[in-house]
Amino acid sequence: MISVAVDGPSGAGKSSISKEVAKRLKFLHIDTGAMYRAVAYYAFENNIQSEAIPTYLKDINIEIAFCGNNQIVKLNGEDVSYKIRTPGISSLASQVSKIKEVRDFLLLLQRNFAKTDNVIMDGRDIGTVVLPEATVKIYLTASNQSRAQRRHLQLKKEGINCEYSQILNGIIDRDREDSSRELSPLKKAHDAIYLDTTDLSFEESVNKIIEIIQVATRQESPAK
Ligand code: DC
Repeated sequence: MISVAVDGPSGAGKSSISKEVAKRLKFLHIDTGAMYRAVAYYAFENNIQSEAIPTYLKDINIEIAFCGNNQIVKLNGEDVSYKIRTPGISSLASQVSKIKEVRDFLLLLQRNFAKTDNVIMDGRDIGTVVLPEATVKIYLTASNQSRAQRRHLQLKKEGINCEYSQILNGIIDRDREDSSRELSPLKKAHDAIYLDTTDLSFEESVNKIIEIIQVATRQESPAK
């Protein structure tokens, strides 16, 4: 099995780029952030404080399904794929992801995918913790401004209205929280390839990653 770990700060394009790479290489794309978001959404909906979440994990069932190339996240049977994308859930997910029990709970789910399929998995700790033996590791980043602009555009497309400045501040805060936390902080794995996409288009970023994967696996280029 081939596994590709893509880590990096929020808004670097990890999920959208990984999704397109997966589509072209016929891999499974797993967006692990969506799983933390689903736990955060559960806590929000049920008015549960972060510290109390471990007690409720037994009541949380997260399923990942695929509709074509799209990952669908089901929380206790309900499709929450869109509801988990708001700025409020983003910052709650960052808080929730500091909890050891939550990380352990999601780790098993994440690792299982790489046992049965060729995967490209994105998150914060994929290359360092979830798949330390990944075939290819990429650390994907971009400037704060360009990440905020991309996220702003993405939310607008999804019909979620919010201020650019709110998104920029949210990104800076979340980077600080995600990289400074004690457990599985966001950091580049020592053997990851560093890729800054500030000056790369979406297409260039996708092609670059496919090239990295092909060099690493010595695969033939798939027909587009
Ligand atoms: O990638 P994202 O923005 O959807 O992730 C939401 C939050 O989940 C992010 O702030 C940090 C956390 N996360 C994590 O701790 N580990 C992962 N592998 C993926 C996400």
